[in-house]
Amino acid sequence: MSSNQADQAASDQVVFTQDVSDMALSHQAASNEGTTSQDASDELVSIQDALNQVVSNLAPSNLAAWFTADSPQILMVGPAPYTPPSAHQIVIKNAAVAISTVDWAKQLMGSKMSSWIKHPFVLGNNCAGKVVQVGDMVSDIKIGDRVLAHALSMDPVVNNSSEGAFQHYTVVRDNMVTVIPEWLSYEEACVVPLSLSTAATALFQSEFLSLNRPGTTLRSNPNSLPEAVLIWGGSTSVGCNAIQLAALAGYEVITTCAPHNFEYVTTLGASAVFDYLNELTVPQIIHLFKGKTVVGAIAIGNDSTEPCMKILAKSNGSKFVAQVTFPFPEKIPTTTYQLFRAKAASKWSSIKILIKSKRSGVKTKLVFGSSAAHTEVGSMIYREFLPEALAGGTFVTAPKPLIAGKGLEHIQKAMDWHLMGVSARKLVVSL
Ligand SMILES: NC(=O)c1ccc[n+]([C@@H]2O[C@H](COP(=O)([O-])OP(=O)(O)OC[C@H]3O[C@@H](n4cnc5c(N)ncnc54)[C@H](OP(=O)(O)O)[C@@H]3O)[C@@H](O)[C@H]2O)c1
Repeated sequence: MSSNQADQAASDQVVFTQDVSDMALSHQAASNEGTTSQDASDELVSIQDALNQVVSNLAPSNLAAWFTADSPQILMVGPAPYTPPSAHQIVIKNAAVAISTVDWAKQLMGSKMSSWIKHPFVLGNNCAGKVVQVGDMVSDIKIGDRVLAHALSMDPVVNNSSEGAFQHYTVVRDNMVTVIPEWLSYEEACVVPLSLSTAATALFQSEFLSLNRPGTTLRSNPNSLPEAVLIWGGSTSVGCNAIQLAALAGYEVITTCAPHNFEYVTTLGASAVFDYLNELTVPQIIHLFKGKTVVGAIAIGNDSTEPCMKILAKSNGSKFVAQVTFPFPEKIPTTTYQLFRAKAASKWSSIKILIKSKRSGVKTKLVFGSSAAHTEVGSMIYREFLPEALAGGTFVTAPKPLIAGKGLEHIQKAMDWHLMGVSARKLVVSL
């Protein structure tokens, strides 16, 4: 089936479903006049069965890049069911998907990570495309809309392949979808979701920094010190989103990255930038924070939590670090021995952070980006904030996409590429 045929089939299905439902209702009314209620109800059940059969026959054929038990190192492209949406869901025909660390980390580590995910499974958190079907309770999003969405298959509460991004048709939840402007390409749009959810959770969720949201007035009065937030790792995909959100919420943003990205993160809204590899950075940021109230820090990147703790311990204001990067070795473990060492290193890193936290009074907490789907952050960001911010150009999709190819079979290459490292770029596959 070509993509146009699939689009047509999906919209035919919706129209057809409505027609058959109407027929079923009028048939029920007619039946109620001349037959017993048992006859009418039996007949209604058989019409409903026939309807379901027709709907499933009309469903577009779907393909996915499967993470399989048999070949853990290579995603296998093959048929996947087309799943219709439930009341608060939407089905998107994906036009572009983006890679996140968690995708290839899960592939490399298999059952050693996110053990609730069983093979075969559809990974992928970031997608953009056209809406082909909407659930009964979805408002303000319609068939044909161009959207970006955070796909949630890997979330422990969801744990469902139909909601993975790495396929042609993904089921997404209506609180995690944004209608995008006509001028924004799908490739540019799909870089956003998991990074945005993670940044927004770290900044705004009540268990983390709990900052004012973009568009609200800052709590401070004109005579109080300027409020500033530290975003360590500003050129990461999460960092690019966090800088913009925090700046739009009215905070001064102090960030770190490699010198060749200083200018880029400044265009996103950072007011001061430092090199995270320079040993003078910690004392320099402490010095800069004199005369400001610090509202907290977001630690992104390996070994980012400890410098953030040191800075907050010596600054005026919040003593809270939202930890985005999990304490894990740079090299992903693939054997049981490596895993044992990695777990020991990770435990040791957590213990060190705990000891430093006790000594300095700075608290830390790990962020789970997909948790935005289950808190107020999801709809606040995707439904209330982002549509207008994108359309008005106050928020840009960042970092820029690096397109690895076209077609599901290129997702593996894109994941391998991301594993090798990127600098202020997001790996994307067009579909
Ligand atoms: N908790 C969650 O839910 C969640 C969700 C998404 C991502 N993450 C984690 O967040 C981190 C970033 O993910 P991402 O997808 O945003 O990354 P990414 O865009 O792929 O990261 C690439 C960037 O990392 C920067 N970088 C490398 N080492 C660094 C360090 N030690 N400190 C600060 N920056 C460093 C590089 O900056 P320069 O080129 O400027 O040197 C580069 O621009 C990863 O650890 C990922 O696992 C967590």
